[in-house]
Amino acid sequence: MDYQFLMEKAKEASKNSYSPYSHFAVGACVLGESGNYYYGCNFENSSFGLTICAERNAIGNAIANGEKQIKAIAIYSPNREDCPPCGACRQVISEFSAPEGIPVITLGADGLITRNFNELFPGRFQL
Ligand code: THU
Repeated sequence: MDYQFLMEKAKEASKNSYSPYSHFAVGACVLGESGNYYYGCNFENSSFGLTICAERNAIGNAIANGEKQIKAIAIYSPNREDCPPCGACRQVISEFSAPEGIPVITLGADGLITRNFNELFPGRFQL
C-alpha cells in the first residue's frame, strides 16, 4: 500500500477546504476495498455544528461510489503536524473498517506516522 501517495492526495484535498470560521484546513484520502481512492476536505457552516470533517467527507464519497469497507485513511492539515481524526470521525471510521483495524496515516515533523485504527479507538461500539 502506497502511504505516501495517500498522503499526497490528502494534501491536495486540503486545498479545497472551506473553513472560513476556524481557518483550519483538513484533507483526507481513503483507500476503498476496490483499490480506488476517495478524497474529502472539511467544509464549515455559519451554523457551526453543521461542519463536516474531511474524514467523513472522504468516507461519504467512498460509500457513494459503492465501497463497503475502507482499507486505509490519510489525514493532512497545513495547520497542524500529526492531525489524527476527531472522536466523531473515529466512530464513523469504525463503521467501515475491518475488526483488525486499518492504517491511519498522518504527517509528523519527521515524515509519515502510521497508527492502527484500533489504537486510536479501542473498544469500538458495534451493533
Ligand atoms: N476537522 C476535520 O476536518 N477533521 C478532524 O478530524 C478534526 C477537525 C475540521 C473541522 C473544522 O472545520 C476544523 O477542522 C476545526 O475544528
